[in-house]
Amino acid sequence: MLIGIDDLNFYVPSFYLPLATLAKQKGELPEKYHHGLGQRHMAIPSLDEDIVTMAANAAYPLLKKDKGKKIRTLLFATESSIDQSKAAGLFLHTLLKLPRNMRIIELKQACYSATAALQFAYALVAQDPTHEVLIIASDIARYGLNTPGEPTQGCGAIAMRITTQPTVLSINPESGCYSEDVMDFWRPNYQETAIVLGKYSTQKYLTVLKQCWLAYQAKNGKPLDDLYDCCYHLPFCTMAHKAEKTLHILNNKPFNAEKIMPSVFYNRQIGNTYAASLYISLLSLLAHTELNLSNQHIGAFSYGSGCVGEFFTLTVQSSYQNNLRTMAHLHMLENRTAVTYEQYKQWFEYTWPTQGESIICPQITTGRYRLKSIEAHRRQYEKNPHHLELVP
Ligand code: HMG
Repeated sequence: MLIGIDDLNFYVPSFYLPLATLAKQKGELPEKYHHGLGQRHMAIPSLDEDIVTMAANAAYPLLKKDKGKKIRTLLFATESSIDQSKAAGLFLHTLLKLPRNMRIIELKQACYSATAALQFAYALVAQDPTHEVLIIASDIARYGLNTPGEPTQGCGAIAMRITTQPTVLSINPESGCYSEDVMDFWRPNYQETAIVLGKYSTQKYLTVLKQCWLAYQAKNGKPLDDLYDCCYHLPFCTMAHKAEKTLHILNNKPFNAEKIMPSVFYNRQIGNTYAASLYISLLSLLAHTELNLSNQHIGAFSYGSGCVGEFFTLTVQSSYQNNLRTMAHLHMLENRTAVTYEQYKQWFEYTWPTQGESIICPQITTGRYRLKSIEAHRRQYEKNPHHLELVP
């Protein structure tokens, strides 16, 4: 029985900060961000967007025409949670009119949690093949103004439906995991922004990649030559170069830097989306590789600081091109508005009420769902009366 991704879609807010604008502000050369980090733009959430609205926007197309009725589990992967107790997915239950007879839970382990969700979904669907699982990864990466991590911020969400009829990618059961208690990146409960040892985190990522590859090989994993390509967690896009080089050196194989370009096409324009980033990269590879990838195996490396890593593979299904939504994604990215540095800073520094005061959120986003208000500590969401349909 095949189990895998039957449908997937990503969403990013309609605003971005060009990294050339940030470079100018910080007195850096734009080349450092464009070539050194491999990033062009950084997606910015407006004041009426959060992980719930991004998640709802990502999931909506997967649930149209009653397609949500077989969903029995919603796994919400995030490290930018809005509540210490209630799972963010419960807000989606109302917004997206999901079935009552289902379970909803939130998962956290830095950028790794969407991969944990994928493995848990695999097991749930194997246990009951009539069962469908909706996975949503939604995050806002925040390091703070004037920090080295600032150009590697971003935000976005991806939704994936896991079934026994995967039309896009089947998941292969072999995988290699590695965990270690390290402090390379973390965010204590009282912090709005992450604390990170940037260079150390990058080294740790590559060490964990090697360990995961070795663990994957020990499970009779496929040799590197059997994989058409690999996708990686992308905190910034040149990380894929570093990872690809590391894996090829480890396997004594020649390394072709150009080959990673299709898998970073979307991420270059968005920035770090934490848990969603590997899966946006996978979608990017499928959508922007000219060759037909049917039946090809793709390697995937997931890394979450702190740290947990996993290497596994997926196999491209023959009908994969029908569910990539490439036109809609390109349209969404091309129709965003560039913000000035001052606008970005104002939104970044906005102070949210913490004492139960009521606020009505300004109407800014053009997304389908928005945060309407916060009243007595309760977040209220709504369908956006000013929504602009993105599909041309
Ligand atoms: P930095 O110190 O500002 O940058 O921090 P740099 O000086 O290292 O320069 C970056 C690259 O640009 C270098 O290339 C430079 O040579 C190059 P590299 O040595 O890496 O190959 N460069 C130029 N290239 C062309 N033209 C120029 C130019 N100038 C310089 N003119 C750093 C960079 C990534 C450390 C920082 O942005 C940071 O701390 N980011 C946040 C942490 C991070 O992204 N870590 C990644 C691994 S950990 C991870 O992925 C998990 C994570 O997603 C969190 C989670 O799991 O939840 C972060």
